[in-house]
Amino acid sequence: MPRKLDARDREIFELRLRRSAADLWGMTERLYGSHPDYAQFRDDLLALLERSWAERPGDLKHLDLARDLEPDWFQRPGMAGYVFYIDRFAGNLKGVLDRLPYLESLGITYVHFMPCLKPRPGDSDGGYSVMDYRAINPLHGTMADFEAAATALRQRGMSLCVDLVLNHTAKEHEWARRAAAGDRAYQDYYLMFDDHALPEAYERTLVEVFPDNAPGNFTFYPDIGKWVWTTFNEHQWDLNWANPRVFLEIAAIMLFLANKGVDVLRLDAVAFMWKRMGTRCQSEPEVHMILRALRACSRIAAPAVIHLEEAIVAPEEMLPYLGRGEHDGKEGNLAYHNSLMVQFWSALATRDTRLMTHVLRTHFPPVLTNATYATYIRCHDDIGWAITDEDAAALGLSGPAHRHFLSEFYEGGFPGSFARGALFQVNEATGDKRISGTFASLAGLERAEAEGDAAGIEAAIQRILMGHALIASFGGIPLVYMGDEIALTNDYGYLSNPDHAHDSRWIHRPSMDWRRAEDRHHADTPAGRVWRGVRHILARRAATAELHGGVPTEIVETGLPGLFAFARRAPSGALVGLFNFTERWLDLPAERAAALGARRFHDALSDAPVETHGGAVVLPPYARVWLL
Ligand code: GLC
Ligand code: GLC
Repeated sequence: MPRKLDARDREIFELRLRRSAADLWGMTERLYGSHPDYAQFRDDLLALLERSWAERPGDLKHLDLARDLEPDWFQRPGMAGYVFYIDRFAGNLKGVLDRLPYLESLGITYVHFMPCLKPRPGDSDGGYSVMDYRAINPLHGTMADFEAAATALRQRGMSLCVDLVLNHTAKEHEWARRAAAGDRAYQDYYLMFDDHALPEAYERTLVEVFPDNAPGNFTFYPDIGKWVWTTFNEHQWDLNWANPRVFLEIAAIMLFLANKGVDVLRLDAVAFMWKRMGTRCQSEPEVHMILRALRACSRIAAPAVIHLEEAIVAPEEMLPYLGRGEHDGKEGNLAYHNSLMVQFWSALATRDTRLMTHVLRTHFPPVLTNATYATYIRCHDDIGWAITDEDAAALGLSGPAHRHFLSEFYEGGFPGSFARGALFQVNEATGDKRISGTFASLAGLERAEAEGDAAGIEAAIQRILMGHALIASFGGIPLVYMGDEIALTNDYGYLSNPDHAHDSRWIHRPSMDWRRAEDRHHADTPAGRVWRGVRHILARRAATAELHGGVPTEIVETGLPGLFAFARRAPSGALVGLFNFTERWLDLPAERAAALGARRFHDALSDAPVETHGGAVVLPPYARVWLL
């Protein structure tokens, strides 16, 4: 029996529905208004929202009210994220609870459980091939364990992020199985074709995500007699978002997860959700209508929840995921700042920040509405060199040559490279190659340790800490990827796992090394130094009001090619972030620093005054300074 709304809950529901009505119905009308079942769709969606709200647990309703009153809760400097696979970090969900003190002592207030819903058996693309969205991966525990973990996190003031894969399901999902069995209604959940004419026509303009091991965007199944749209792997069937039933199903799953205590829904691979002949079928306008409507659903029935949209695309294409134009302030609350990540690695290799400054200044506004970035140096995926030919040309570089250089450099082959990485998905047709590797290995630690190079080890540690200081202050929620806080290097074990060997991304998805973590408090090892450094950075971030996500980030020129800088101009005054991307000492004339807004020459990061020498701020190799 669905629960009935009492008078107060009904009143709250009506108010929230009114608040978001234009966002919801305005979008669904445009998406599905001409569909014969549209009236039914509206009724069903309204009933779903009401039912989900009625069933929402009391403590979550309380959180809804609290966050309605503090809508900037996720932009505050106290937010710091940590991303991990449940099994690789702690064995299972119960194990995660035992590890919360570790995360707390690092300063973490947000955790992302990597895909934890029930995946298909065997290779599941790291859990992104989901066969049941209402069950937890049995290796991790049960739904009851999941709810217990969510509650424990909430009690500690930590937010929980989980993945919602909504571009595709596993081919073992019940909908797909029904479709395969010939059920027309379920065939309409996917994109199925009787012959190859349409797939071939679409292919002309599509790109390949996994050209190595999953070439093409369609798969033919002789037993079904159909071609199925499979953008990613063969076992991941793209959903047909032009079908309003698909919207309803996913909205229901979304609110189901919200009511289990999820705070942040990471909406996976959203760029691919809408198909249009003659295009790349990425970031079509309808994608943004769907995402705005889904956000409205959360705002109505589970307003404590925010959406993190995963769109790993070029800057101009990425920003709309945080709401642009008519969707301003109404779409994703968070999106990955892929360009910041790519530019970090590019500048680190070239020791030159001018491309970084150009890209971040030209394409990104200083401030966003109701949204902020998820800032990161690396994640569970590969690094694709998303630098356009135009941006490269603005700096006198050749796009293809620079991207090629970056792959060579981070694979480790380029003369003088400090990095060790692995290539990912080499596309012979386009010359495109992506890179896998842990932060520590790409930053030089693995090679320096192997070569017994003490200066190289020191430089690697400084690069890792500079990267963390950058993502902790740029604006947005910094995401620390599991193991980076103790400088874990590449894990080559994946090569002997048949489900993983074809996918070099597993090189940077190691299991947590708790032995290495053990001596973090005292040992003078790279692990101990990085751990203490990251903890310090997060603690200082939490104490620095200028780093609130709502404070604009203005990229500034320093006149020194090796130095990247931005100013965060808060009402209380400016914080100037300075980052030396070279292994040389740099002198920034004090009057330049003052012109950028520095007032007191106090470093908020070390919490100490900055001495000037001969009229200059002296910046050691890989220095990071938050100048007040
Ligand atoms: C996402 C995930 C990636 C996965 C892909 C397909 O972008 O981050 O790991 O391979 O979607 O689900
Ligand atoms: C591409 C896609 C992204 C996916 C990744 C997988 O970057 O845009 O969605 O996660 O490949 O490695």
